[in-house]
Amino acid sequence: MHNKLLLLPALLAALAALAACGDSAANKTNTAPRAPVVLRKAVPADFKGKTNPTPDAKADGEALFKTHCVSCHGDKGDGDSPTGKALNPPAADLTAAAFHDAVGDDYIFWRITTGAAGGPAGSGMTPFNNLGEDQRWQIVAFVRSLKK
Ligand code: HEC
Repeated sequence: MHNKLLLLPALLAALAALAACGDSAANKTNTAPRAPVVLRKAVPADFKGKTNPTPDAKADGEALFKTHCVSCHGDKGDGDSPTGKALNPPAADLTAAAFHDAVGDDYIFWRITTGAAGGPAGSGMTPFNNLGEDQRWQIVAFVRSLKK
C-alpha cells in the first residue's frame, strides 16, 4: 500500500512527459516549400498528338515570347512578374522541370492558342490564336528551352 502511493507521482510525471511529447509532434508544422499542385485539363482531340514542325526555332520564339508572354510570365519565364503574381491562379512557372515532364508540345501549343479556355477556373491567360500557327510553334520551341 505504502509503495503504491509513492509510485503514483512518478507515474503522473511519466504521463505528463508523454503528453508533452505528443503535443510537440502534433504542433510541428511542415515549413518546407512545396510545389503547387497544378491540375491540368487533357489536351482536346483537335490538338492532341500535334508535333512541333520547327523544334529548333528557339531564337524566333524568344523574340515572340518577349513581346507576348513576359508581361505575365516574367523575363525568365518563371512567373515572376508583378502582373503574373497578381493573377489568381498566378502565371505559371514555365521553367519548372515538373511542368516540362508532365506535358507534351501539343499541350503547350494548345494552351498558347486558346489561353484561359484550356486553363483552370479563373485563369487570366491570354489566347494567342491571332498569331500564326508557325509563330506559336516557335514559341513552343523557346518555352521548351526554358526547362531548369
Ligand atoms: C495576361 C497574362 C498572361 C499572358 C500574357 C500569358 N500567360 Fe500563360 N498563363 C497565364 C496564367 C495566369 C496561367 C496559369 C493558369 C492557366 O494555366 O491558364 C498561364 C499558364 C500558361 C501555360 C500552362 C502552364 C501549365 O503549368 O499548365 C502555358 C504553357 C503558358 N501560360 C504559356 C504562355 C505563353 C507561351 C505566353 C505568350 C505567348 C503566355 N503564356 C502569355 C497568364 C498569361
